[in-house]
Amino acid sequence: MLTKRAVATTGTTSGAAAAPAAAPPRPGPPAAPAGSPWPAGALRTAADIVVGGVGLADLAVQYHPPLYVLDEAEVRARCRSYRRALPGAEVVYAAKALLCGALVEWVEQEGLGLDVCSGGELEHAVTCGFPPERIVMHGNAKSPEELASAVRLGVGRIVVDSFPEIARLAALADPERPQQVLVRVVPGVSAGHHAAVRTGVEEQKFGFSMASGDAADAVARVLNQPRLRLAGLHCHLGSQITETAPYLLAVDRLVPLLAEIRDRHGVEPPELDLGGGHGVPYRPGDPAFDLRWFAAQVTDRLADQCVRHGLRVPRLLVEPGRAIVGPAGVAVYRVLAVKHTLSGRTFVAVDGGMSDNPRPALYDAGYTAALIGRPAEGPLTDACVVGRHCEAGDVLVPQVELPADVRPGDLLAVPVAGAYHLSMASGYNLVGRPPLVAVRDGAARLLLRRETLDDFRRRDVGR
Ligand code: LLP
Repeated sequence: MLTKRAVATTGTTSGAAAAPAAAPPRPGPPAAPAGSPWPAGALRTAADIVVGGVGLADLAVQYHPPLYVLDEAEVRARCRSYRRALPGAEVVYAAKALLCGALVEWVEQEGLGLDVCSGGELEHAVTCGFPPERIVMHGNAKSPEELASAVRLGVGRIVVDSFPEIARLAALADPERPQQVLVRVVPGVSAGHHAAVRTGVEEQKFGFSMASGDAADAVARVLNQPRLRLAGLHCHLGSQITETAPYLLAVDRLVPLLAEIRDRHGVEPPELDLGGGHGVPYRPGDPAFDLRWFAAQVTDRLADQCVRHGLRVPRLLVEPGRAIVGPAGVAVYRVLAVKHTLSGRTFVAVDGGMSDNPRPALYDAGYTAALIGRPAEGPLTDACVVGRHCEAGDVLVPQVELPADVRPGDLLAVPVAGAYHLSMASGYNLVGRPPLVAVRDGAARLLLRRETLDDFRRRDVGR
């Protein structure tokens, strides 16, 4: 008989970024709640993990590994939990985490905005039917063509990130319909899981430094352009942040700049965008971002700071990417080889790798994995799950306990695969990017097909 139990073993079982049961406000800052990396509704059976009512091993039979599975209900629940936690704010999904037509549709239906950071993301989202006025366009180096299409399509806000861009955008904007812009500033707040994604500090490529005066200068230049309207300030601190404190510090630094703008120019920009970066647990027991605590604390702090500076409270924007789609995704791989080293390490090689998930190689990111497709019985062994690419650094899960009899033909499921896997996937070794399959209410459907050798051949046009 199948023993069914929820895969989530600790922490929240809601579809939201982990939120405690008690309602805010609460006394001191809580320890970040520990969370489960599996989709909230996932169930462990004797020989499988069921997501969205569909067994992952069954999906492997139908679609073949390596393959990515996306739980639609989990994505929608996460969108809803953001809207519930921040009813007065605009929640903007960061499409760089994962973008496809279905996701664009779900996010639109759930009432979120969309953050895009290239002409490609922009055009794809709009042609998939996303309303341009709900799009926020980012990028530290947007080309003149990208700016032109953003203006042409009527993008709601463009986040300016350099002085030349302000002049370029002003030249492109329609005098009859001034372009709303946010000025991206560097608040000098360090947060994020790896130096490569810490963008709230000096000495990196994004934004205008507050410390140097560039931020105030950028604001003045925007205000001097009749075809631009200053909607507000923007900052993005970093990614995979599990604490609220860095965001509070950002509010403490940005509100005085809003007051300075009011004092110097007599305008009160109506919006404050705190970017994204909300973290998720990748392994059982990892800390989780406490969305309700964040919402309560940031809202309070913003109101307090505005009272202190005699400002109207600007509308808050947040831009979660990973926290919307990360935990809704599961990668499924087939084991192709198992090796035991002299020192007793077990390497389990699978049919994917750094071409579908470059995160461990880029950021030393940690993951877990579970055997599916047959009962996991008997003793466990410490294993290192590696990919099939031509580099020793092609590691997917550096350390995980797997059944000691793990063998070729077995299937492994890797959770938290929804964000920054397929969107960062490459064509390395011509392996081809895996397909993306949506699951909902016991049914599966293909969202993105597998990349094939034909796709590569079609690009190979020279001789
Ligand atoms: N807003 C802006 C302006 C951003 O640059 C980003 C992410 C986000 C929002 C969404 O951040 P999220 O909520 O997803 O953390 N590839 C890295 C993450 C890079 C994030 C880049 N910017 C990783 O896999 O960890």
